[in-house]
Amino acid sequence: MKNFPVSDTLKRLPEQFFANLVNKVQKLSSEGHDIINLGQGNPDLPTPDHIVEELKTAADNPAYHKYSPFTGHPFLKEAVANFYKREYDVDIDPETEVAILFGAKTGLVEISQCLLNQGDTALLPDPGYPDYMSGIAMANANPVFMPLLEENGFLPDYNELHKADLDAAKLLFLNYPNNPTAGTATKQFFDETIELAKQHNICVVHDFAYGAIGFDGHKPQSFMQSAGAKDIGVEMYTLSKTYNMAGWRVGFAVGNPSVIKSLNLIQDHLYVSLFGAVQQAAQEALLGDQTAVEELVATYEKRRDVFIEKLREIGWEVPAPKGTFFAWLPVPEGFTSEQFADLLLEKAHVVVAPGNGFGESGEGFVRAGLLASEKRLAEAAARIGKLGIF
Ligand SMILES: Cc1ncc(COP(=O)(O)O)c(C=O)c1O
Repeated sequence: MKNFPVSDTLKRLPEQFFANLVNKVQKLSSEGHDIINLGQGNPDLPTPDHIVEELKTAADNPAYHKYSPFTGHPFLKEAVANFYKREYDVDIDPETEVAILFGAKTGLVEISQCLLNQGDTALLPDPGYPDYMSGIAMANANPVFMPLLEENGFLPDYNELHKADLDAAKLLFLNYPNNPTAGTATKQFFDETIELAKQHNICVVHDFAYGAIGFDGHKPQSFMQSAGAKDIGVEMYTLSKTYNMAGWRVGFAVGNPSVIKSLNLIQDHLYVSLFGAVQQAAQEALLGDQTAVEELVATYEKRRDVFIEKLREIGWEVPAPKGTFFAWLPVPEGFTSEQFADLLLEKAHVVVAPGNGFGESGEGFVRAGLLASEKRLAEAAARIGKLGIF
């Protein structure tokens, strides 16, 4: 059988750092061990019933069995605009300021194809969600990492960036509430970002994947709530986390019309838009009853409280996340992130993601997902306690 070599573009794609961990977990599971997997970011609860019901009804509509309009159904773009008005009091033009995406991941990769030429510079967070780098690598552009440090509340320190990099940069990726650090952003930070971006002509891409998940009564800030955001950037939102719809692949970008046009253009060449019934169900998610979202956030908050309390009880001094469904936990002295994650896996059968997998500045941390029941999270903490490290 002939083995066809891959293109240079594919060769540039970063290695999937966590593949190794996944293999180790599979091996232990197949040996019959009871593994508590807090290593991934896959929501564990189902999509609310009313959204699933809407899909079932919509699937019967023969109009949806045809190709959808290329840039998505107008009703979904209207729903996105209404959602932004209701949630953030932001005006969005459904015609020119919304692009429907096959999940945020797709948009986050596509945007580099849309705006970067070979050798161009993009600024991105370190640690950060790995797919920003995938798009940059495919475009053969040059990444410049912005360290997210604990002492800065996991926000980038723009003063530390070199002027040459700022002048060269065409794209700047941000993500708050943040995966993996669980850091959150203020309006002031976004205002400063807009000022910097305008000064240096940089397009800001704010990944708002965890936009709904803020704790202690704190509603995460949208980038679009800052004056001038649309002049200089876009925000990407996904239904994956807010509505437990990760498998449905539906998200959207809002903001700068020229960027929205580019996203729609690349999608014209790659896809026809999402299955119409999924779009109708997405409309129901965005505009229907939001009780399930409140309950979901309360569930994550309770899980956080239990997990953090139990970890502190075993002597592990950990901060409580203010948003996302992740806890970013400092690794005890004497271990690297990978050594510590390996130890937890092998000796406690608890899976966490080593922080260095998200970038160099993630070294010294592991990420735990609050994606198991309170009982299992407490059990995970108890198992770690039994190792007698703290
Ligand atoms: C920060 C961040 N952005 C984007 C995504 C991707 O979301 P989607 O399911 O919409 O592709 C994720 C999913 O884990 C994420 O953590």
